[in-house]
Amino acid sequence: MQTEPKNNDTLVLGIETSCDETAAAVVARDPDGEARLLSSVVRAQWEHHKDFGGVVPEIAARAHAECLDEIIRMAVKEAGVSLAEVDAIAAAAGPGLIGGLIVGLVSAKAIALALNKPLIAVNHLEAHALTVGLTDGLRPPYLLLLVSGGHTQILLVRDVADYTRIATTIDDALGEAFDKTAKLLGLPQPGGPSVEEFAATGDASRFQLPRPMKGRAEPHFSFAGLKTAVRHRAREAAPLSDKDVADLCAGFQQAVMESVLDRCQHAIALAREELGDDLHHFVAAGGVAANHVLRGGLTSLAEHNGLTFHAPPIALCGDNAAMIAWAGAERHSRGLIDDLDAPARPRWPLDAQAPKVRGAGVKA
Ligand code: KG4
Ligand code: ZN
Repeated sequence: MQTEPKNNDTLVLGIETSCDETAAAVVARDPDGEARLLSSVVRAQWEHHKDFGGVVPEIAARAHAECLDEIIRMAVKEAGVSLAEVDAIAAAAGPGLIGGLIVGLVSAKAIALALNKPLIAVNHLEAHALTVGLTDGLRPPYLLLLVSGGHTQILLVRDVADYTRIATTIDDALGEAFDKTAKLLGLPQPGGPSVEEFAATGDASRFQLPRPMKGRAEPHFSFAGLKTAVRHRAREAAPLSDKDVADLCAGFQQAVMESVLDRCQHAIALAREELGDDLHHFVAAGGVAANHVLRGGLTSLAEHNGLTFHAPPIALCGDNAAMIAWAGAERHSRGLIDDLDAPARPRWPLDAQAPKVRGAGVKA
């Protein structure tokens, strides 16, 4: 995807520090909205957190602060441009861990101020939502399944900056459920790829597990009960052989699939009521969209409903700065620029008008 920028391109530097990836990237957007990814540098911090069994916010913020300058320099160099040639600076301003967000946003503000360039404070969820514009040239409207470590939502992407939330999780996010399941089975973090790998050789039908929310009229999600059911089955089968772990992973992944596909089928029906014949595309984004089994199921579901399925390439499903730069470029093209006092926001729903869902708490 990396190519040379053209003369009339807008170049945007993106910075991502909302969780445990420090990332910087440069994208080019031409006046017709065509995208080119010029560089994307991602440094994962998992080594810093592995002894603690999860991401430690204070350690994450310090790790971002230590390497962000270097990551930005690498991204600009890889793009073959100078910082002075960049037209705008975009940084993830939320939702996420406040310490990390401040590191990235303050760095972006400093660069914007020093070079007298516009700042775009990007919603991390909007960046996941728009990534298919960068990778597939796909424009809204489309229906989006956003599945990451912190969020699980179905959204109608009407336009840039215009989202309607159709569904959310009433407890755990899907990535969180993968991570907790991996942890209780003694598998390495991040849990999603570990569970997917073990599931590939497992028998999904051996352990009885629930299909949470399946058949419910509202298209919301729930994964806490499924994770607890895996814990019970694991206790009953202990001590666990590799075969037991593989079968539990396969059973968990199959239950997730059936639940997610059922929820998405409901959401497609609701989206059709809203968009009618304008609904042509079904998109998945976020870290969990890297799961090959889920991608396969979602592709079939989309086809069954006469929709085309799109998901970013695996490398751009998880957190990265290319998506931040691209969301920044899209907003910049519409004149959506932020002041230098733009705040970092630990919570920042894409659809602030969405009705409250009982139990949804911070994940709404
Ligand atoms: O989007 P992301 O990188 O960070 C957040 O914004 O949260 O998503 C990270 C999540 C983690 O929970 C990770 O376990 C999950 O995405 N994940 C996967 C896979 N790869 C990453 N889940 C299932 N299958 C995968 N292959
Ligand atoms: Zn994310």
